[in-house]
Amino acid sequence: MVDINRCYSIDDLNRAAHKALPKVIYDFIEGGAEDELTLRRNLQSFDHYEFVPRVLRDVSNIDLSRQVLGIDCRMPLVCAPTAMSCMFHHQGEEAVALAAAKAGVPYTLSTLSTRSIEQIATLSSGPKLFQLYIWHQRALVDEFIERCRQNGYQGLMLAVDLPALGKRERDLHNGHGRALELRLKTALGAWRTPRWLYHFLRGGPPQMANMLAHLPDNANALKTIDVVNQQFDASVSWQDAENLRAQWQGMFVLKGIQSVEDAKRAVTMGASAIVLSNHGGRQLDGAPPAMAILPAVLDAVGGELEVLIDGGIRRGADIIKALALGANACMIGRPYLYGLAAGGEAGVSRSLEILRSEMERVMKLIGCDSLDRLDASYVRRISALS
Ligand SMILES: Cc1cc2nc3c(=O)[nH]c(=O)nc-3n(C[C@H](O)[C@H](O)[C@H](O)COP(=O)(O)O)c2cc1C
Repeated sequence: MVDINRCYSIDDLNRAAHKALPKVIYDFIEGGAEDELTLRRNLQSFDHYEFVPRVLRDVSNIDLSRQVLGIDCRMPLVCAPTAMSCMFHHQGEEAVALAAAKAGVPYTLSTLSTRSIEQIATLSSGPKLFQLYIWHQRALVDEFIERCRQNGYQGLMLAVDLPALGKRERDLHNGHGRALELRLKTALGAWRTPRWLYHFLRGGPPQMANMLAHLPDNANALKTIDVVNQQFDASVSWQDAENLRAQWQGMFVLKGIQSVEDAKRAVTMGASAIVLSNHGGRQLDGAPPAMAILPAVLDAVGGELEVLIDGGIRRGADIIKALALGANACMIGRPYLYGLAAGGEAGVSRSLEILRSEMERVMKLIGCDSLDRLDASYVRRISALS
């Protein structure tokens, strides 16, 4: 068993997750679309900046607190929505929601979660958002919104980068889209990871928990994933997003903005915030890393809505660089999933602790004691991002 306290970096947690999971499941987390160019660029994009440190400043108290998406957060971080968490660890989404609440950061529940809107609301009193897709079956979207309202979710996050599912070739090789082969390959690979297999068999098949009443086979995720994938609607337009916005008075976030033009459009449609995101390199291969478009987006819309980024963040230093450029906060996906796979709730907490302590150390080393004083003078671009 992995001792997560001996994982000192997100990469250490990644290695631990690799050991803990069958290949089919690990690949689902780790992989990106096609040649994984965007996946790699996301990781590299932070290396194109270095710090401009100042010395002999009093940095004995570092304040990382900030208001993000209208929520007072202990650090400028949000747990991004990720599908199917029960596949990575039997505690699933509840582990992430609880760890996020303890760390004082918001959790975003995915539409494709294996715990429901209601279960997460009952479990965690921490700040929560719900990630939506606009689906063919619009009534289902209306139902989700109503359930979020009744269960005290602070915000909706509409993912806008999925008119089609990205071509994730690791998953195709592993049998995604062919339910029987997928189940067979998962089962065969699982003998290498008996702990995972034990809990998987004990917990029963993961469910598409938000759609229990709408899917066949008791919403068994392994059997119904193809039905669900058919719900993605390529005809979704700005008008649909505006209609949705009109239905929800609270925090409304567009996730997956990838151009200045769309950032401006998000302002006119009344979004409260945008996340510059390419879905962790899982959708369009060749899409830009958020860091590459952040300065231009901030020039165009900074001050008119909140701008967050995600994709490729593996170090506290990455977060500080993004904030220095002007992002209000960052979201992470894989970093907490590695922790989840390696050690359930404790593993997610470990991932958040690692990032927090790295952020604090970087702030000390660059001579800046508060996020309010962090600005572009603390970073320097050292090469082109292309
Ligand atoms: C396994 C996995 C599942 C994901 N599922 C969703 C999802 O259901 N909805 C969504 O909007 N984004 C989803 N994402 C994208 C994340 O929200 C986020 O944009 C991405 O993980 C950020 O990149 P990072 O993993 O490098 O931090 C998923 C990402 C991963 C790795």
